[in-house]
Amino acid sequence: MKKILLLGSGELGKEFVISAKRLGCYVVACDSYAGAPAMQVADEQAVFSMLDEVALRDTIAQHQPDLIVPEIEAIRTEVLLDVEQQGFEVIPSARAANLTMNRDRIRDVAVGLGVRTAKFNYAQSAQELLTQATHIGFPVVIKPVMSSSGKGQSVAKSAADVQASWDYACQGMRGDRQKVIVEEFIHFECEITLLTIRQRNGTTVFCPPIGHVQERGDYQYSWQPQAMNMAHLKAAQDMAEKVTADLGGAGLFGVEFFITRDEVIFSELSPRPHDTGMVTLISQNLSEFDLHARAVLGLPIPNIESWEGASAVVLATSEGSNPSYSGVAEALSEPGVDVRIFGKPTTRPYRRMAVALAKGDNALARARTAAQKISVTSTS
Ligand SMILES: Nc1ncnc2c1ncn2[C@@H]1O[C@H](COP(=O)(O)OP(=O)(O)OP(=O)(O)O)[C@@H](O)[C@H]1O
Ligand SMILES: [Mg+2]
Repeated sequence: MKKILLLGSGELGKEFVISAKRLGCYVVACDSYAGAPAMQVADEQAVFSMLDEVALRDTIAQHQPDLIVPEIEAIRTEVLLDVEQQGFEVIPSARAANLTMNRDRIRDVAVGLGVRTAKFNYAQSAQELLTQATHIGFPVVIKPVMSSSGKGQSVAKSAADVQASWDYACQGMRGDRQKVIVEEFIHFECEITLLTIRQRNGTTVFCPPIGHVQERGDYQYSWQPQAMNMAHLKAAQDMAEKVTADLGGAGLFGVEFFITRDEVIFSELSPRPHDTGMVTLISQNLSEFDLHARAVLGLPIPNIESWEGASAVVLATSEGSNPSYSGVAEALSEPGVDVRIFGKPTTRPYRRMAVALAKGDNALARARTAAQKISVTSTS
């Protein structure tokens, strides 16, 4: 039986634990707060900040896991590089976790591999930001190099917006580097996540592309398959294979692309299941979590079957604790609809608390309708 140390215990971690436990693994789930979603289904839990080097080292030493599986970006990844040298196995690789922790590193890797990205540059002051933005051409998208879920991200339409964008980015930054990436705004027709699975003993395989819509930097709904022409799909698969091969190791990656009329543009990637990929809980024979588990355990993936499906998030609206959910029965009364309630102990505005899933004809409209039926209330 493999022992897995899961770093990060959100809703994606929870589904991964379920998949891993079905294959007989023993899982220790870690996060900075007790009762996190994945802890509720794991064998053991450990509560500490994964940015705390000493606590992270101690936990690894104490549990002696066969596999260390990161679920989030905010991890002291230098520790992972170090313990990998000592013989621990990090999924998919310590280098992948380290390079994707910050946007600039993975972007530089993509450029080094000749992968098409939006035009971009870096800035470390409002003045430098103005210079770079003018050079790229407005509108531009500005993102802290260390942040996730759209925190600190904004669009500057003209020079007049630059100071506000810089200030907003500084507020949303994680870590100690005052550095932003400034990017050409891509007028895409759609954006996709291409789930890409690197196997230990097999070729790299792909799930059908997932389309999604984002608001405030967080995904709102996703669907599979996203219709795409074959040439664009092939271009995306080639780029995904190239970048994931460079990062190495075994596991599932969520590779994000912008699709314009004429082009496929690489955006970023997660070396782990992707939130927009929750749709695969209902649209595939093996979900992205099952696929990640099989890949990291070196188990075969003979076929991925998929059909039309969609997911839509259920968000909290206020700050509080002891959340309760109404409208679940109404949502579930529709055939082909399912719901996952994550079990987060507290709420805050826009916090993702559950997801509605639908399969079959008009899956997207039905998933969104189901999500709208569910509301979250909590005690303040
Ligand atoms: N250059 C761009 N042009 C147009 N839209 C963009 C651009 N960059 C980002 N966006 C929009 O903002 C969303 C979030 O950006 P991105 O994926 O880079 O960061 P993030 O979501 O904060 O990171 P993570 O996916 O790790 O949470 C994208 O999915 C896309 O909708
Ligand atoms: Mg993203």
